[in-house]
Amino acid sequence: MGKEYVKEIERARRDLRALISAKNCAPIMLRLAWHDAGTYDAKTKTGGPNGSIRTETEIKHAANNGLKIAIDLCEEVKANHPTITYADLYQLAGVVAVEVTEGPIIDFVPGRKDSMVSPDEGRLPDAKEGPSHLREVFYRMGLSDRDIVALSGGHTLDEEAFFRDYAASHKRLSELGFAPPSFLRLALNKTIMAVATAATVVILSYFYEISRKRI
Ligand code: HEM
Repeated sequence: MGKEYVKEIERARRDLRALISAKNCAPIMLRLAWHDAGTYDAKTKTGGPNGSIRTETEIKHAANNGLKIAIDLCEEVKANHPTITYADLYQLAGVVAVEVTEGPIIDFVPGRKDSMVSPDEGRLPDAKEGPSHLREVFYRMGLSDRDIVALSGGHTLDEEAFFRDYAASHKRLSELGFAPPSFLRLALNKTIMAVATAATVVILSYFYEISRKRI
């Protein structure tokens, strides 16, 4: 994955922002991203955010009822950015959907690979079952109790601490079975360091100005 791919992702992000705002379709886009990712099985490393939800078999799974609409909407973006994988496109649509509805900004690392292999039906949680079922499903994905609570907020995005936990859990969900290339993680760490240094300089100069005025 080269720099050109990262640039294309940014262009697709802009298109998705415009599309999701215009069509008011954030909930269904988020549900698409979650249902593509939420089939992951950490033990067998099958399922997960790999674009397989677009296959005829998987889209027909009962849990995915109605999601063809979101797939078709994403197809409009895919047509303008054909190099982007479906796996990245659906997860990007998910993070943009959260952003557009004034939820937290979720760190997005591209590079997911596409698959046409759909997992067996029944990997997503069943709303009729209880907490032990939810635990079983989320633990299978390699996620935790904390992730169950935070990600359930996908139904109603609301507070700052919640947003922080939500963003971290959503990032883990979108990267199940996907190891971001180390140079990207390094670049992100550098950005965080640069922002922290700039903020420290601004705060220190502010205090310096105040103490000078007092003298
Ligand atoms: C924890 C287990 C979960 C259960 C049992 C569950 C169940 C459901 C059900 C039954 C619906 C209604 C579907 C329909 O309209 O036919 C729904 C909708 C939705 N779910 Fe979940 N869900 C879960 C987790 C999540 C997660 C983790 C997210 C996102 C991170 C999410 C995002 C959504 C969204 C955005 C909708 C609304 C879709 C729309 O209005 O088109 N859900 N969920």
